Amino acid sequence: MKKLLKYNSCNILISNNIFNELDYNFSILKNRRILIITNKLIASLYLSKLKKLFYSVTNYLEYIVIPDGEKYKTMTTVNNIILVLLKKNYDNNTIIISFGGGVISDISGFIASIYKRGIDVIHIPTTLLAQVDACIGNKNSINHKYGKNMIGTFYEPKSIIIGLNFLNTLSKKEIYSGLSEVIKYGIIMDKDFFFWVKRNIKNLISLKLKFLYRCIITCCKLKVNIINKNKIDNISRILLNLGHTFGHAIEKYTNYNYWSHGSAIAVGIIIATYVSLNLNIIKIKDAKLIRSLIIEAKLPILGPKNININDYINIIKYDKKNNMNNINLILPTSIGTAKIFYNVDKKIIIKSILDSKQDLLSKF
Ligand SMILES: NC(=O)c1ccc[n+]([C@@H]2O[C@H](COP(=O)([O-])OP(=O)(O)OC[C@H]3O[C@@H](n4cnc5c(N)ncnc54)[C@H](O)[C@@H]3O)[C@@H](O)[C@H]2O)c1
Ligand SMILES: [Zn+2]
Repeated sequence: MKKLLKYNSCNILISNNIFNELDYNFSILKNRRILIITNKLIASLYLSKLKKLFYSVTNYLEYIVIPDGEKYKTMTTVNNIILVLLKKNYDNNTIIISFGGGVISDISGFIASIYKRGIDVIHIPTTLLAQVDACIGNKNSINHKYGKNMIGTFYEPKSIIIGLNFLNTLSKKEIYSGLSEVIKYGIIMDKDFFFWVKRNIKNLISLKLKFLYRCIITCCKLKVNIINKNKIDNISRILLNLGHTFGHAIEKYTNYNYWSHGSAIAVGIIIATYVSLNLNIIKIKDAKLIRSLIIEAKLPILGPKNININDYINIIKYDKKNNMNNINLILPTSIGTAKIFYNVDKKIIIKSILDSKQDLLSKF
């Protein structure tokens, strides 16, 4: 199985196994200096195979291996990598290969966008979450003590090479995490896809190739459609942030430890759904469907036990979607539709967080 998609000048290859893709058009790499950015875990699993693949087109191949974890998605890591690039005199014809999950693609994309005013980058995403979301869409960002993804740029990669083979070594926790963004697409823009995911959730969790393939292609197409319409964060693109206001708060509150991005987003989607219920803009039936699919994907519906209302409010006031201290939220309005709501009443937000803590929907 192999599929090629395209947006602007970026190609997306979706393949069963990228190590069998020697015939793929790697000519862009020919005789260029290549720098692979990856982390320790992915390097131990796949770096030698990737090097072998690229040595067929260039001899100028080097790599940087950083520690694993969201807590390293920082300016310090970016600075350390840039220092190596400058010390080793990488020129502006260098091409960065980001090889890993969303943390690696965000760091690598950001560096590519600022190093010598921009150098080429190719993403090879190795998590489900990065394959369906983080690598697509030209956004990259790093965290700051004031909040998650606070610093970043828009920057188009030259190509994105997706290999389903990488998912075989991914922990189940990370598969569930990726499913959180998959479910998000269904909720915000594609009712049929939502129900397809619901029918096939077990096949997706057990990595049945045919289902994974369809799932990844659909998500890539949905995101590409949005990007083609909205180059930067305006209306329909901003819907992709469903669940992210509260989810980011959970990630920050827990110091980017323990909670995968997708798990935090799942709880964020649940809280957003309670806000919709409290604003009377979603039917209970649809809210229950969202909750049940999140549970079926083995994702959490409750946030960390000790996070309280003030913690949430103190963190979400820094959210990027806010303006003039007004809290703006993406809220689901049915299965397949969501909207941005401006200046949402704080009392409603507080009530919704409390409702979610009590799992009120389970009582209807
Ligand atoms: N830029 C965007 O548009 C965008 C969109 C969504 C998410 N993100 C960002 O993506 C990040 C989350 O990405 P993620 O979920 O991929 O997390 P991640 O990059 O931390 O990867 C999760 C874990 O899986 C491991 N791993 C990766 N590939 C593996 C493989 N093939 N086999 C075994 N283990 C593997 C990693 O080492 C890590 O421990 C967050 O920082 C989030 O903000 C960005
Ligand atoms: Zn996300």
